[in-house]
Amino acid sequence: MYEVITIEKRGAVAVLTINRPDKLNALNKQVHTESVAALDELRNDASVRVLVITGSGEKSFVAGADISEFEGQTPVTQRDAFHERSLFNSIDSFPKPVIAMVNGFCLGGGNELAMACDIRMASENARFSQPEINLGIMCGGGGTQRLPRLIGEGRAMELALTGDMIDAATAERFGLVNHVFPSDQLEAETMKLAEKIAEKAPIALQLSKEAVKFASRSNMDEGLRREVDLFAICFSTEDKKEGVAAFLEKRKPEFKGR
Ligand code: COA
Repeated sequence: MYEVITIEKRGAVAVLTINRPDKLNALNKQVHTESVAALDELRNDASVRVLVITGSGEKSFVAGADISEFEGQTPVTQRDAFHERSLFNSIDSFPKPVIAMVNGFCLGGGNELAMACDIRMASENARFSQPEINLGIMCGGGGTQRLPRLIGEGRAMELALTGDMIDAATAERFGLVNHVFPSDQLEAETMKLAEKIAEKAPIALQLSKEAVKFASRSNMDEGLRREVDLFAICFSTEDKKEGVAAFLEKRKPEFKGR
């Protein structure tokens, strides 16, 4: 049913693969539309607890927006494509944890997509940049906002103003990616992390994600108030009863997402 993405369910983990390897998985309109539709489906699928997003092939995660589609775009259509119903915002507001599995070029809109995810795992051959400046344009998928929050203003400024590419080790040192692995271990390590998270209580995961994201969008007092409200909501769940009972009974909890 999808043509340029694939969705694979591996237990409680869904893997969304952007599948245009001949174009280094560049984000065209069809990738946006299909991915947003898939996210809508997956958010309502209770069997899916964690989402992994990756690109097909070994060379590229996503090499940015599809530059060939920039021709013919008007300011209005381009603004619409990158705004509220964009893939970036659909990932940002997705209620379950999302892990970017970065297996090569992670450029422009690709890096913005990875940054919209909650955690980034990268292979040693991954390369990162915001090269929009070289096309006479600028970041439009969240780059100027998410990059400084992740790596600090000075480093973000340098990447946005030069378009320079950094390697995986530098990205890890900057805090742009959480972990770097040899290419042949990336998938196994990403699935290990995804499965570990998938065992946790789904409502507590969702609320934790909301609270952490709120930190960069609010001041400390508002954030602390929001956190305690979300924390209190956890006390209404069956999973809280199960988690506490399992600890006291010295057994592994079985969370149901209720
Ligand atoms: N949009 C559209 N097509 C893209 C693309 C993009 N962002 N990135 C790569 N492609 C296409 C190439 O045009 C080429 O297509 P073709 O075989 O039909 O000519 C194919 O993908 C392979 O890319 P190629 O450039 O031949 O590979 P390379 O190994 O020589 O170079 C890159 C790899 C990533 C350095 C180079 O493709 C590149 O600079 N891409 C654009 C990155 C960019 O500016 N992204 C931000 C856009 S805002």
